[in-house]
Amino acid sequence: MIKVAPSLLSADYTDLKNQLRQLKQAGADWLHFDVMDGHFVPNLSFGPKILSDVKKESDLFLDVHIMVYQPDRIAPWFSDADLITFHYEATPRIKETIDIIHAMNKKAGLSIKPKTEVSAITDHLKDLDLVLVMSVEPGFGGQSFDESVLPKVRELKRIREEKNYSYLIEIDGGINEKTGRSAKEAGCDVLVAGSYVFKDIDHNIAALRK
Ligand code: DX5
Ligand code: ZN
Repeated sequence: MIKVAPSLLSADYTDLKNQLRQLKQAGADWLHFDVMDGHFVPNLSFGPKILSDVKKESDLFLDVHIMVYQPDRIAPWFSDADLITFHYEATPRIKETIDIIHAMNKKAGLSIKPKTEVSAITDHLKDLDLVLVMSVEPGFGGQSFDESVLPKVRELKRIREEKNYSYLIEIDGGINEKTGRSAKEAGCDVLVAGSYVFKDIDHNIAALRK
């Protein structure tokens, strides 16, 4: 069954405790936590203290997406995560970073931006718990879904079947009821959605499941 991972980037931080409760009640599976460094992406978001506060208020699986350079240095700061996903484009030290995350006893994900092909990461697929296909340029919520990334989802699904790998396929950026359906049909296991979910938490989480 599809997992829905609301992105806290679109939350109202003055009301975070209530919103975390609402997300849980509405049936969210994971919480997606976008970390930005102002270098790899042109925006800043939040760090480990906020993740640790969120963990105190929610028992949902914490899906941490680090959009940062030097992910091998920064991943260990997020010891409250359940899964840490970093970007292929951010480091030459892919295998080392996967190993660092696994040594923390966390699941490890690797993300590719819209213009990066699956062929760039094929050597790493066997080691991964998740592949995150970005359907917008990372950095901001509220952008439009780029459907030209869907063939990459199909390709990842095909490779997983052929090779008997076990990674989940997640998609992030511009997900709503309509684009979420296309992503599911292409083979996604996890839908990240920020601005759409926070417009109407109850209704829109249910809509993403349909
Ligand atoms: C973008 C982030 C996303 C973002 C998605 O860089 O990785 O997780 O919050 O926001 P929406 O769903 O509004 O496109
Ligand atoms: Zn994200």
